Amino acid sequence: MIVCEDIDCIRAFIKSQKDKAAGLVPTMGYLHEGHMSLVDKAKELSDVVIVSIFVNPKQFGPNEDFNRYPRDLEKDKNLLISRGVDVLFVPSLGVMYDKDFSSKVIIEGISNILEGAFRPGHFDGVCTVVSKLFNIVKPQRAFFGEKDYQQLKIIQKMVKDLNFDIEIIPVPIKREQDGLAMSSRNVYLDDISRHRASSIYSSLLKAKKQFENGLTCVKTLTNIVKNNLDVDSIDYIKIVDKDTLEEKTTASKYDRILIAVRISGVRFIDNIEL
Ligand code: PAJ
Repeated sequence: MIVCEDIDCIRAFIKSQKDKAAGLVPTMGYLHEGHMSLVDKAKELSDVVIVSIFVNPKQFGPNEDFNRYPRDLEKDKNLLISRGVDVLFVPSLGVMYDKDFSSKVIIEGISNILEGAFRPGHFDGVCTVVSKLFNIVKPQRAFFGEKDYQQLKIIQKMVKDLNFDIEIIPVPIKREQDGLAMSSRNVYLDDISRHRASSIYSSLLKAKKQFENGLTCVKTLTNIVKNNLDVDSIDYIKIVDKDTLEEKTTASKYDRILIAVRISGVRFIDNIEL
């Protein structure tokens, strides 16, 4: 695996590949099997696979966990080598954001609801860094997890609005055995919180089951989720249209339940398709 730390390196590699289809998997590292399912999909659909690891300060709020975000580059490298990744792009802060950097990519509307309402500016940071990665790597396809469902929808909208010539491939959520969605942040949990966190997926499943039994009232469905959670606080439980993320009052097939909760100071997001 080639490891590139600067933009010249990655551009030289891409140039040497001529017409080969490049697949990009953007990440913030501390990789787990959720990330690896994106890598595997990228391997399947691309001639060359590029993974980026960059903990992007612009998408963290002032009171969020940028400084303590988990990092283990050596372990990540070995994992990527074992899965046959061709190039790892691991830029420093200075490579991505020059001293005089002053741009921002904002996808209005959809960025301010749900996660955006609780994390102001978060998606501007995501869209800015992902635009840069798209321009640096110029992949044919880029892979994003449904774990961050709103992020996926915003990136798809950004690609459409700004005419990036890139196909966005969604990848389903990879879960632990008890249903908890895999996340780099799960390492923050002690055993008790880890156990409580499994109630997130089980409560989503209970609501989905009731929907499949014919229940479509959003209020009742969200109450089912709420009553089965073992969490400290709920940021939101919403049932939304799968594309626009507009809130529904009556649920239909393929709508998504989106949820954000907190347990012992750790914030979790998850979602399920109806
Ligand atoms: P990160 O949280 O590292 O996630 C990188 C990619 O892995 C995202 O597309 C995310 O949705 C996907 N992913 C994470 N956990 C997953 C799981 N359990 N199952 C399936 N996919 C999963 O998301 C980011 O980084 C950043 O915002 C980024 C897009 C890299 C921009 O900085």
